[in-house]
Amino acid sequence: MTTSQPYALLITGGCGFIGSNFVRYWLDRHPTSRIVVYDKLTYAGRRENLLDLWSHSNLSLVVGDISDQAMVRQTCLAHGIDMIVNFAAETHVDVSILGPLVFTDTNVRGTHVLLEVARELGMRLHHISTDEVYGHIPDGHQSVETDSLAPRSPYAASKAAADQLVQAYAITYGLPVTITRGANNVGPYQYPEKAVPLFSTNALLGEPIPVYGDGLQMRDYAHVFDHCTGIETVLLHGQMGEVYNVGTGREMTNLEMVDIVLDTLGADHMLVRHVADRPGHDRRYSMNVDKLCGLGWAPQFDPKHAVAEAVKWYEDNRWWWEPIRRGVFREYYDRQYADRLAGREEQ
Ligand code: NAD
Ligand code: TYD
Repeated sequence: MTTSQPYALLITGGCGFIGSNFVRYWLDRHPTSRIVVYDKLTYAGRRENLLDLWSHSNLSLVVGDISDQAMVRQTCLAHGIDMIVNFAAETHVDVSILGPLVFTDTNVRGTHVLLEVARELGMRLHHISTDEVYGHIPDGHQSVETDSLAPRSPYAASKAAADQLVQAYAITYGLPVTITRGANNVGPYQYPEKAVPLFSTNALLGEPIPVYGDGLQMRDYAHVFDHCTGIETVLLHGQMGEVYNVGTGREMTNLEMVDIVLDTLGADHMLVRHVADRPGHDRRYSMNVDKLCGLGWAPQFDPKHAVAEAVKWYEDNRWWWEPIRRGVFREYYDRQYADRLAGREEQ
């Protein structure tokens, strides 16, 4: 596949945060290829993430579940799909702690269904995974793609199971597959359950910033743009059957991230509240990204710049997040934070 060839991609989960950023990036860079977004439109899947692009002649939307084998198959046949790029997932660790079973349904069974359809119709599948599959990483180590998986939350375990199914299909059936494992992404259109958009929108609303535990957990906050270029690099130049880490290779503590959020907005640091920690909270993620850099890729944003750019987007785009925060999100927020912020849960 070269950049000049027209081809047809099924982008599952294309109405979510990273999927919609990828669709936008890909259509800009490869305007002759066709994209079919296949999305269940859960609370995290939002048509407005691609509001300005739905009139694009090479973009269409099919509302469906990746666990529905007949519908995935029919969609691929009807649209002449060459490759599936699977972003569709349940994605929030805290939600997986409150209600884990849907994570198995979508992330494990859904990915398995996509593999079966890819096998039947002879298509390539690229699977989007996460650094969380490696589990908590001790100081001094950076995960490499051959490390064993050691997930510690229901979300991470479901993603690890999916990775292993994808790799098993490459070995058993010779299916052409690739996997990218992304670091914590930040950028436009991230649902405000995740830390950076939650803290940004709370600060803009003058609400407290709920930092779990001591806030010294470490994350690699990578810009979603760099994740998109990393995925593109693997789609165009990756070796079949291989896994590639995508991140900046640099971490910061959550308290450092909070400082960037508040300083970017000129908000009061007195908004910070240390609240009861997340059960099983992974202390540190850190990935070595040399393998992807070996394909000619490099991140353009360092994590500080990435977080600040993301925060500015939330400051400038209240039209996007204010209706979310007024809607069903409120129920989730109260369930997750009311007791913590009132000090009714142990720290
Ligand atoms: P998101 O929660 O913003 O979006 C998920 C999308 O998948 C939504 O559009 C949702 O409607 C759709 N979806 C959910 N269940 C579905 C189903 N059964 N069938 C079809 N569509 C369904 O997620 P995101 O943050 O954009 O993450 C995308 C992918 O990247 C996920 O696989 C996630 O594990 C991975 N990832 C995310 C991060 C991050 O920091 N957000 C980092 C690394 C990897
Ligand atoms: P999150 O965005 O949920 O991503 P992940 O759990 O996949 O890393 O959280 C990022 C970090 O921020 C993580 O260490 C948990 C922490 N966090 C808080 O301290 N408070 C919060 O309210 C949230 C949502 C996250």
